[in-house]
Amino acid sequence: MAAGLTNTHPALRSFWHPVALESDVPDGAPLAVRLLGERWMLARLGSELVAMRDRCPHRMAPISAGKIVDDTIECPYHGYRFGADGRAVLIPALDSAVPIPPKACVDTAHVTTRFGMVWVCLADVPLDGLLDDAGYVDPINDLFVAGPYTTRVSAGTLTDNFLDAAHFPFLHAGTFGASDDGKPVLVVERHGWRVSQTGMQKVDGAHLEAAAATNGVYTVAAPFVVELRLDRPGASDFIWSFVCPADDDTSVWWMVHAYPLGGDAEQIAGACALQIQVGEEDLWLLEQIEDPTLPLDVRSEVHTKADAGCLEYRRMMIDLAATWPGSTPPVARIPWGS
Ligand code: FES
Ligand SMILES: [Fe+2]
Repeated sequence: MAAGLTNTHPALRSFWHPVALESDVPDGAPLAVRLLGERWMLARLGSELVAMRDRCPHRMAPISAGKIVDDTIECPYHGYRFGADGRAVLIPALDSAVPIPPKACVDTAHVTTRFGMVWVCLADVPLDGLLDDAGYVDPINDLFVAGPYTTRVSAGTLTDNFLDAAHFPFLHAGTFGASDDGKPVLVVERHGWRVSQTGMQKVDGAHLEAAAATNGVYTVAAPFVVELRLDRPGASDFIWSFVCPADDDTSVWWMVHAYPLGGDAEQIAGACALQIQVGEEDLWLLEQIEDPTLPLDVRSEVHTKADAGCLEYRRMMIDLAATWPGSTPPVARIPWGS
């Protein structure tokens, strides 16, 4: 079986990952999350949102089981308190005249927010930035989220599925997939850590008057972010697929939507229910795949022109995996149909 991209590949440390909705992080309490096989903690300390390794340097207790006290996080085991920079500011069992050991420090990570999500990067220097959020912040758009879905399907395979329009008439025949006797004509480009895919696609009954040919503009941002902009007469809908590679056997998937629905609560609820169903249709199939990791040897699958974007995504992920010094050399590139 060809080696696939696991959710804990070390090259993934150099990229931003979504780990939670902003609204999941409460005021006054920490939140434990998983990322790349590790346990991390999010907390609001004062005005600062922080990401810390969920492992106290004293006896390795999960600090997310502690509490926030005076803009510090207090470990539940012996009460060490850590500030936003990860350094211990108080060791209760230590005489206050004795300096705090410099090793009494929790690892921290880059953290930011965008698209209503919390993003974390575990490397000192991220290799790429986050996508622009113009569609998300445009006040004409109503926002809603489908998910999170927690699944054994790898983050790479989920991302590939979101980019794959050729499955709509079959897997999504019960929701928005329209029978289409035309062949998809895709324009695919790679720029650094981004792949764009543009092409007409037929959808049916998605919402409003969206039944008909729609211009789909996909932007994939390595590793596991996709923006889909659906342009129809006079309006655009945005759907973003965000996947957290939590553990080797677990991914967490959100689909964030920005549709111009005029604030109509009934339409928003209907569109959200539909998208939840769409996600379940995808997972029904993907969870039955024997090895749910994204193949890193493109020769192990069949590709046609309809898979142009998905193939370019694989190539980008092969390049991404190769950024890690211990990686095996990337497999030679092959043209269509070889
Ligand atoms: S394990 Fe955290 S204070 Fe001892
Ligand atoms: Fe799908």
